[in-house]
Amino acid sequence: MNIIGELITLRAIEISDLDMMQKWANDPSIQYMLGGWHFPTNKNDQEKWFENLSCNSMHQRFLAVDKDSAKVGMANLVNINFKDGNAELGLLLDPKFQGKGLGKDIVETLMKYSFEELRLNRLETSIIASNKPSLGLFLNKCNWTQEGILRNWYFRNGEFIDKIMLSILSYEYKELKK
Ligand SMILES: CC(C)(COP(=O)(O)OP(=O)(O)OC[C@H]1O[C@@H](n2cnc3c(N)ncnc32)[C@H](O)[C@@H]1OP(=O)(O)O)[C@@H](O)C(=O)NCCC(=O)NCCS
Repeated sequence: MNIIGELITLRAIEISDLDMMQKWANDPSIQYMLGGWHFPTNKNDQEKWFENLSCNSMHQRFLAVDKDSAKVGMANLVNINFKDGNAELGLLLDPKFQGKGLGKDIVETLMKYSFEELRLNRLETSIIASNKPSLGLFLNKCNWTQEGILRNWYFRNGEFIDKIMLSILSYEYKELKK
């Protein structure tokens, strides 16, 4: 079942999305902001990734589309732990669609889904300290809490950069809804 937000819909990833995803995977303006890293990715890499994409209940990856069905970005809920009730949330937007409130809608949509459908208790994310838009999104616009700093965790452009750990709990989400 698709997950419907105010501005975006989160749906399953299709093979026809791979060209767009390859573009995002090779775009330094996106990838420098993310925690992971990889060498340049070709179509074959994307297809192999897609073949191994497990649609299991532990790791969910979504394509985000807007009201015009434009492919605006991706989001994921991974390491979903139903025993302890937590998961990690991540997202990226195509540069064309950044700064329009879509990131906020994706995070809010996944909070609603996680807390009101999956009955999770906690969502967390980690952000590279230089990623001011993402920190602004989670801390200021979505009211997540900074839990800690892992010092010098990333190496980017010749410098070590801290990793910022953030989370939100189910009762905090319910308070926000009042
Ligand atoms: C991070 C991301 C998801 C944010 O989504 P978005 O829809 O573009 O978010 P917005 O730009 O509307 O909001 C981000 C907030 O960050 C702040 N912000 C944006 N750019 C900023 C900057 N350069 N410096 C400081 N704060 C900034 C603002 O508070 C802004 O809120 P505002 O609308 O009240 O001004 C999106 O920019 C993106 O996909 N970036 C590349 C990939 C990425 O970083 N993913 C997240 C990894 S943790």
